[in-house]
Amino acid sequence: MTTAHATAAGATQAADDGLRVQGLSKEFGGIHAVQDLSFLLREGMVHSIIGPNGAGKTTLLNLLTGVYLPSAGRIGLRGRDLTGQPAHVFAAAGIGRTFQNLQIFFNMSALENVMTGRHLRERCGLLPTLLRTSQLRRTERDCRERALELLKFVGLGAHAESSADAMPYGALKRLEIARALAGEPKFLLLDEPAAGLNPTESADIAVLIRRLADGGTTVVLVEHNMRLVMGVSDHILVLDYGRRLAEGTADQVRNDPRVIEAYLGAAAQPEQANA
Ligand SMILES: Nc1ncnc2c1ncn2[C@@H]1O[C@H](COP(=O)(O)OP(=O)(O)OP(=O)(O)O)[C@@H](O)[C@H]1O
Ligand SMILES: [Mg+2]
Repeated sequence: MTTAHATAAGATQAADDGLRVQGLSKEFGGIHAVQDLSFLLREGMVHSIIGPNGAGKTTLLNLLTGVYLPSAGRIGLRGRDLTGQPAHVFAAAGIGRTFQNLQIFFNMSALENVMTGRHLRERCGLLPTLLRTSQLRRTERDCRERALELLKFVGLGAHAESSADAMPYGALKRLEIARALAGEPKFLLLDEPAAGLNPTESADIAVLIRRLADGGTTVVLVEHNMRLVMGVSDHILVLDYGRRLAEGTADQVRNDPRVIEAYLGAAAQPEQANA
C-alpha cells in the first residue's frame, strides 16, 4: 500500500491545512513508542488510528495533545507550530480529547462534568459563584445551557442532574465525549470510545462520530473495535511498533497483507478483532 490517501491529498491542498506531523518520535528509556511518524490529518474527515496493543496509539494521542514532549519531530495545526507547547496551548488551539481510562469527576453531576470541560472557553463555576455580578451570572447560565445542549447531543439529556457515580459505564463514555466537546475542539481525539461497550452502544458511538464529522469536527479515533473503525472512517492509519504500517481507506487497509499479518500476529484478523 502507498501512503497516498492523506499525504498525497495533502500535497494538493494548502500546505498549512489540518493537523500535520513530521518525523515524530517518542522514546521511553529504550522503548521506541512512536518512531519517525509523518502524516497529515485533513480537516472534515474521520481518521482512525489502529494497531495491536502497545503499537503507540495512546502515546501518539499524548503527543498530539501536548501531554508528552516529542523526542524528535514537529506537530503543526493549520500551519501553526505547536511543538513543545504545553497541553493547555494544544487545547486552546483546538485539539480536544477523551481518555482511554475515563477522566470523570465522580463526585459531580453529569452537567458539572461537562462544565469543567468549558473552563478554557469561559469562566464557568467558581468565579461566577464568588462574584455574582450580572455579567458573570449570564456567563454561568450560558455555560449551563451549552453543557446541557452537549449532553443532549450525546444522548444524555435526561442525565444532566445525575451524579456521575450513579451512571452506567456506557453513559460515562458518552459523558467523556460531551466534556471534551465543551472545549469546542476543531479536532477531537477519542481514545477507545467503544472499549467495554456492547454492540448496540458501539453502534450509537458510530452514529455520534458521524454526526460530529458532519457538523465540522474532525475526529481522530483510536479503537480496537474493527466494525466501528471500518464503518465510520474516511481514512485509517495503521501503527505497529510505533511505526506506520499502512494508511488508506477501510478497503485498502483491510486488504493490506501487512495489516492482516500484524493482526494475525496478535491472534485476530482485523475484522474479528474487538475491544
Ligand atoms: N509513560 C510510559 N513510560 C514508559 N513506557 C511507556 C509509557 N507509555 C507507553 N509506554 C510504552 O510505549 C509503547 C506504546 O504504548 P501505548 O500505550 O502508546 O500503546 P497503545 O497502542 O495505546 O496500546 P493499547 O492498544 O494497549 O492501548 C508500549 O510498549 C508501552 O509499554
Ligand atoms: Mg492505548
